[in-house]
Amino acid sequence: MDFFGGKYRLAEELAAGGCGQVFVGVHTIAGKEVAIKLEPAQPSTPRDSPLQLESKIYKRLMGGTGVPWLLFSGRAGDYNVMVIDLLGPSLEDLFKMCNRHFSLKTVLLLADQLISRIEFIHTHGFVHRDIKPANFVMGTGRAASMVNVIDFGLAKKFRDSRTSLHIPFKQDDFHGVGTSLFAAINTHVGIESSRRDDLESLAYMLIYFLRGTLPWRKLRAPPSTYISLAACRSCRKLVLKSRKLIHDAPFLRKKMQQDPRQVPLPRQGTRCSYSLAGVEP
Ligand SMILES: Nc1ncnc2c1ncn2[C@@H]1O[C@H](COP(=O)(O)OP(=O)(O)O)[C@@H](O)[C@H]1O
Ligand SMILES: [Mg+2]
Repeated sequence: MDFFGGKYRLAEELAAGGCGQVFVGVHTIAGKEVAIKLEPAQPSTPRDSPLQLESKIYKRLMGGTGVPWLLFSGRAGDYNVMVIDLLGPSLEDLFKMCNRHFSLKTVLLLADQLISRIEFIHTHGFVHRDIKPANFVMGTGRAASMVNVIDFGLAKKFRDSRTSLHIPFKQDDFHGVGTSLFAAINTHVGIESSRRDDLESLAYMLIYFLRGTLPWRKLRAPPSTYISLAACRSCRKLVLKSRKLIHDAPFLRKKMQQDPRQVPLPRQGTRCSYSLAGVEP
């Protein structure tokens, strides 16, 4: 099955992720490149599949600044398919290209856009629940400096659109959605995600960009136990929440006092200039 929606042809694979695979595709008539996300279709169930739910959220949000357009969604053969605008590299890709270092200026410019994207999602009644660098991609062409938010596979409504009531507080044994490296502490302990958790994950993301890593990144789950990596990371986050991050404040203060021109630039990598040219006006 190489054609979708009658006019989109699969080209190369872009990424294989949590709920399916993402490919570069081409519009057979216009020649325009698109991103095609595929998920194996399950025999018909009354509930929407994760990709169908994601398409519905795109439908609600598209047209907003930094949200890609949904071009097609439906079923083709054994797959559920979603076609959206093809955008540029993700912030995780760029961060790696820049030797895991963004200057303070870059981080602040990114933060400005990231907060606006998350605010937009929240004002439409959704929490994203998987805020991390891989789920933000740069634009292309004239919009190359625009940060776009993608991957609504875990997003969820947090308020009733008719009554505007917030979903009730809930805590269960199922610990966590999203990516443990960036997950909020509430998420680790099974509390229903809400807007503050997206913002906590964003804070981890910004610290990650400034420090190059997070203190719980290199943890390993102890062998031959049932303790998961996510559980180890959540313990470390809880311990460090009060201690290490506060301890780091002088580091951040020192960085803030530095003249932005003196903040060391990343070592010259081959494509490093893309991010700086792309993000900074
Ligand atoms: N529209 C797009 N344009 C460019 N890259 C994309 C696009 N959609 C996804 N990607 C790339 O594919 C990766 C996985 O896509 P994503 O929608 O996050 O799927 P998953 O649910 O598997 O995480 C992203 O991190 C990004 O690098
Ligand atoms: Mg993703």
